[in-house]
Amino acid sequence: MKNPTRIPPPTNLSHFSAKKVSSQCEKKEFERKLIGQAEEDAALRAVKRAREESSEFGAFDRYGGIEVSAYEKEFAAYIGVADAAAVSSGTAALHAAFAALEIEPGAEVICPPISDVGGVAPILMQLCIPVFADSRAESYNVSPQGIRAVLSPRTRAIVVAHIAGEPCEMDAILEIARENNIPVIEDVAQAHGATWKGHRCGSMGAGGAFSMMGGKHHTSGGQGGMVTSSDPDFLRRARAFADRGKMFYPTGIVNEVAGLNYRMTELEAAIGRAQLEKLPSIVSRRQTLAKRLAGHLENSNLFRLGWTPQGGESSFWFLRIRILGEQTENFKNEITNAMNARGIPSAPTYTSMIYHQKWFKDRRVFPRSRIPWSLCPHNQNRTYEGCCPNAEAAMRNHIRITLNESMSVDLIDRVAEAMLEIENQFSGAGC
Ligand SMILES: Cc1ncc(COP(=O)(O)O)c(C=O)c1O
Repeated sequence: MKNPTRIPPPTNLSHFSAKKVSSQCEKKEFERKLIGQAEEDAALRAVKRAREESSEFGAFDRYGGIEVSAYEKEFAAYIGVADAAAVSSGTAALHAAFAALEIEPGAEVICPPISDVGGVAPILMQLCIPVFADSRAESYNVSPQGIRAVLSPRTRAIVVAHIAGEPCEMDAILEIARENNIPVIEDVAQAHGATWKGHRCGSMGAGGAFSMMGGKHHTSGGQGGMVTSSDPDFLRRARAFADRGKMFYPTGIVNEVAGLNYRMTELEAAIGRAQLEKLPSIVSRRQTLAKRLAGHLENSNLFRLGWTPQGGESSFWFLRIRILGEQTENFKNEITNAMNARGIPSAPTYTSMIYHQKWFKDRRVFPRSRIPWSLCPHNQNRTYEGCCPNAEAAMRNHIRITLNESMSVDLIDRVAEAMLEIENQFSGAGC
């Protein structure tokens, strides 16, 4: 990578309206065409079965069904684990996987500050204390160094999230886990098909948790999730938690533990199976497009495709684009406004960091209390402000651009062209 060059932020963008815009994209060129005939056929197959075969458990229930268990087996084979448990969402998958660790309330759990709330809320719901690990400044993902820095005698688990489809540095993370005898849960909601040194994300920790919500690489019909593992005991506990303690009949009829109903339906699984067949081509198409963009940006002084650690193959849920040099929030807004004006869906940031969210700052998990913090003498007064300076820098240094497998090569070429033109204009050369 070239040395980042600092480009002075522009004071205003009035010259944009006056200039001829040469590289223009249309918003509709970024539309995703994820659902097709195969999904329609699969859904109808499930409906037909529900009409024709009466189940004592009711139509579409996984009890007595065939689609959910087939989807679990096919998904496990794709990820490279012994088994999988299908659930109703990514949040449910995280919750079931985390509950399967059977960690005592009050324990500390290392987790990512840059993630979806669904990836961290389960820790709080199980009355554990989130301890955020820092990233590298060039990544949204927790780093091994960040994890080591916050380990304590009270750490009982590590949750890592492969954000934007980019794998975390799993060798070093698993090494820390082994040294300290702590399990790792992989949050793979955004990283279907991503690999670390040839291993699919979701196959390396004690368990993986996937989201099949409609915007993910593949969907089980709007919502859905999957817990993956090669540890039968772990998966058995996750299943039990996700089925009110019953373990997805017929293996469990008695409610053995307290749990919730997070079961996936037959209809969802039928669609998920059709989608799963498309997943390898979805992933490779995204990789082709992202790498092509990276090539176009190689000599840019302003933009770079986000850094992925060596050994990692991203599956690119979105394009994380590094803005080179120290740049202000205002500058990022100007850049993404310019991109959006050229029809390129982009945003100055990916999300709001968990510890910056108001509910978290107010410690409002269980209303009218400060539980779980108030239950833990060591953590009653834990403060989070500024605890992950590199992750904050990563949020400052990147923008987000939409990517999906329906986009054409020609479109990605025009996106790159537009970005380079914007760079010229911002550096003064094009004014
Ligand atoms: C990293 C991460 N974890 C967890 C979740 C929660 O998944 P779901 O929305 O399916 O509950 C998401 C959802 O976007 C996510 O991006």
